[in-house]
Amino acid sequence: RSVKATAFSSSANLGAGYDVLSMSHLAFSDTVYAELINEKERRVMMESNSNVPLDPARNSAGAPVEALLKEFQLNYTIKLNVIKGVPHGLGLGSSGASAVAAVAAVNELLNLHLTLEDIVKFAVIGEQAVSGSPHPDNVAASAFGGIVAVTSHDPIRVVRIPINLNFRLMLVIPRVNTGEGKTKKARELVPKQIEVSKMVENTRFLSSFILGLVKGDRALVREGLNDAVVERSREPMYPHYPKLKEIALRYDAIGACVSGAGPTVLILYDDSTKLGEIKQEGGKVCAQHGFQCDFITTEIGEGVRVE
Ligand code: HSE
Repeated sequence: RSVKATAFSSSANLGAGYDVLSMSHLAFSDTVYAELINEKERRVMMESNSNVPLDPARNSAGAPVEALLKEFQLNYTIKLNVIKGVPHGLGLGSSGASAVAAVAAVNELLNLHLTLEDIVKFAVIGEQAVSGSPHPDNVAASAFGGIVAVTSHDPIRVVRIPINLNFRLMLVIPRVNTGEGKTKKARELVPKQIEVSKMVENTRFLSSFILGLVKGDRALVREGLNDAVVERSREPMYPHYPKLKEIALRYDAIGACVSGAGPTVLILYDDSTKLGEIKQEGGKVCAQHGFQCDFITTEIGEGVRVE
């Protein structure tokens, strides 16, 4: 028997919500097929349509499944076939989507009765394996769908934020190769200490963003989709961002932020946004920095799907 699970791409942070807020989108997805090979040996075998590492310990789909087998003391051999659809290294939650799909598929295959929060707890092990840090934001969005806040880390608790505002999404994705270890490098740029004034500013942004979504207040979401700490510290990794954001706001996007650790930029837009102008002028900004950008329109995604 083979079980298939599909998990969507995601944009973490959403301004000031570093490692807490995240949104899934329908733009891209990863699918994992899980198959029980035998019940004699604890082992994870991997294959993939892309050139991800096939050593399960170094693969975001493999590592959490190894942990699952260990936790439940199952001496099973599981084969995972990872079909990558989420581009890697661009801030689109690629490793997280594979991790969530793998855990959800094995949960169904072995009838483990994991909750979505359990799935997040194991999927985080995949993030740890590939980026060296167990950040839960991308995996929470890929598992639950919508816009989520991770309100507790240990134990993991995830809350879906009610959205009462109509908007769509545009992802501005640079055609660049960010190389290995991008997220790790980006996390090293984040300051260890910040001024209280910056903390206050970010708390204001975070409150405005969440309240704006809940109340359906466009201006609040616009004010809230900002960050005074993490985005700034990583600007060398996405030098096109400040200008692109300025253009998006000039042409009346609801807001714009860096998608996860970048370099993709996420734009929230609605009917009053002049998308054509954003694409035209934004394209020039990318070109000035020596790369092309793809402008992908999409909408908020669902949680992980198991078939
Ligand atoms: N919150 C994480 C970060 C997401 O910004 O480092 C990485 O995908």
